[in-house]
Amino acid sequence: MTDYSTSMRTDRCGDLRVGDVGRTVTLCGWVDRRREHGEHLAFVDLRDRSGVVQLVVDGAHDLRSEFVLRVTGTVRERPADTANDALATGAVEVDAQAVEVLAAAEPPPFPLDERTEVDEVLRLRHRYVDLRRPRLQRNLEVRARVNSAVRGAMEEQGFIEVETPMLVASTPEGARDFVVPSRKEPGSFYALPQSPQIFKQLCMVGGVDRYYQIARCLRDEDLRADRQFEFMQLDAEASFVSQDDVLAFISHAVAAAAEAVTGVRPGEIGRMSWEEAMERYGSDKPDVRFGMELVELTDVFAGTEFRAFQAPCTKGIRVPGGADTSRNRLDDLTERCKRWGAKGLVWMRVTPDGLDSPVAKFLTDDEQAGLRTAMEAEVGDLLLLVADERRTARHILGLLRLELGRPPVTEGGLHFLWVVDFPLFEALDEAGNPIPAHHPFTMPHEDDVHLLDGGDLLAVRSQAYDLVLNGWELGSGSVRIHRREVQERIFSLLGIGPEEAQAKFGFLLDAFRYGAPPHAGFAFGMDRLTAILAGEENIREVIAYPKTQSGADPLTDAPTPIDDRHLEELGLRVLPPAE
Ligand code: AMO
Ligand code: AMP
Repeated sequence: MTDYSTSMRTDRCGDLRVGDVGRTVTLCGWVDRRREHGEHLAFVDLRDRSGVVQLVVDGAHDLRSEFVLRVTGTVRERPADTANDALATGAVEVDAQAVEVLAAAEPPPFPLDERTEVDEVLRLRHRYVDLRRPRLQRNLEVRARVNSAVRGAMEEQGFIEVETPMLVASTPEGARDFVVPSRKEPGSFYALPQSPQIFKQLCMVGGVDRYYQIARCLRDEDLRADRQFEFMQLDAEASFVSQDDVLAFISHAVAAAAEAVTGVRPGEIGRMSWEEAMERYGSDKPDVRFGMELVELTDVFAGTEFRAFQAPCTKGIRVPGGADTSRNRLDDLTERCKRWGAKGLVWMRVTPDGLDSPVAKFLTDDEQAGLRTAMEAEVGDLLLLVADERRTARHILGLLRLELGRPPVTEGGLHFLWVVDFPLFEALDEAGNPIPAHHPFTMPHEDDVHLLDGGDLLAVRSQAYDLVLNGWELGSGSVRIHRREVQERIFSLLGIGPEEAQAKFGFLLDAFRYGAPPHAGFAFGMDRLTAILAGEENIREVIAYPKTQSGADPLTDAPTPIDDRHLEELGLRVLPPAE
């Protein structure tokens, strides 16, 4: 047990129990609530990090919400009928003998209870008040526990923490860089790291063998519930290892984090190939907490007269009990699918009299029967079908499945899943160059290397893998290319010429001349893991000082303009805002 007593207090508010009855204690904290009881008696809930305890204060004191007090008094048992079972300290109260106001406080800008919905900007502007709320106190504690467990797990496995710089050259994670102008070299800029990727690989060349870091990463991208400009990664890299070794290291770390928060160690994490994830869930981060899997229907409609289904691939999902979905909602879903890139959406209600759908008349009895069998359809279900290129059909139905069935990310326990055998390239760009699915340092799958020379590039698998938790991408990693000639070959396939490669990643290519060990690594989002473990939908709730959705910081007002002198020193001129 940590001793929280200091020269100013003997105990923390939330720690007092029946066993303390009779003791004289000194407590420090904030006035959480005050209730008058007759003319001269007040009940004051005093709050600190550990929780609240009820004080009974006699006499006239001007004690208002959020005043900071130091109180000395005697712990006594509450009369049985006034005990509060909802409160850890609910069986006791402190009969206050001395009350000292350490700091007065203006009325808080919003109520600190958990019932009031408070505007985000207001909360963040007064984050120091917001942080006093039990929910955020708890989240910060969960976060600290996750950090500590992950650190411990990595160190147990022989990883050593190495810090990498924040002022760097552009890093290759594919988002926009935040940049910092150089005063010494006006017109030149540092980039803030999107990840320590290149440095950790250089650590491997440097013989570090097992590196980890809880690293701050910065990416200028649109913010969402699971994305901030700044976030923390557990970043790791190891030498002389295979994919299986990395998966084992990381599994151990996330299991330790989960156990530290929930008290229960999750079981072994299953694996699924990327291809299977796309076929069954239409997503590379399948949410396996619920069914509604994608059903293959291409064969059922192989000879169909219905034009929409004369496509390379037809797939569908079954919404159990969805037949009562309104026409409006179905039209809305169809519109949504079109916005996502579908040509259309076929819906069918399964009724006792057959399939109710505007397109049922275009389908033969055999096709209708085949469809019902393939989808295991039952009366009362709703069937949703998309026909298209295979990639598109999977993608659209994957989104539709989430839209219709996805529980909140925090519900239903923790479902970790490894997704392995990612493709090396995710698509071809307009110039016909492949776009890397992970990053350009990822090793192709050994069995597919031959396809790099004139084969189907999109069929090349890689030694890249993701960790998924409840449908969120928790992390990514890969076995890296450690030979210069293979790396150069990949750069050239990506349309990055030797000069560009040298300019951007020359220091990595150069390092590979001097003896690079085979190596592999991984990074997962600490904010995302913490949020899910804390039961939060938005990573903002587990970050002490996050940005708003629009990327501003209402607390410090960042970003702010800088004055002309400062601009001049940096050799910068600001253009007038675009029309
Ligand atoms: P990747 O780009 O997939 O991989 O990032 C790894 C993990 O970092 C988290 N993450 C974020 N969290 C919050 N806000 C963001 N804007 C954000 N962006 C990413 C996610 C993500 O899965 N260097 C590689 C890893 C490697 O190959 O070793 C990398 O950074 O949880
Ligand atoms: P159309 O023949 O384009 O009028 O489409 C008839 C119905 O089929 C409409 O409900 C469309 O939304 C739907 N539809 C059209 N193309 C597709 C497709 N590729 N996949 C699924 N449904 C489609």
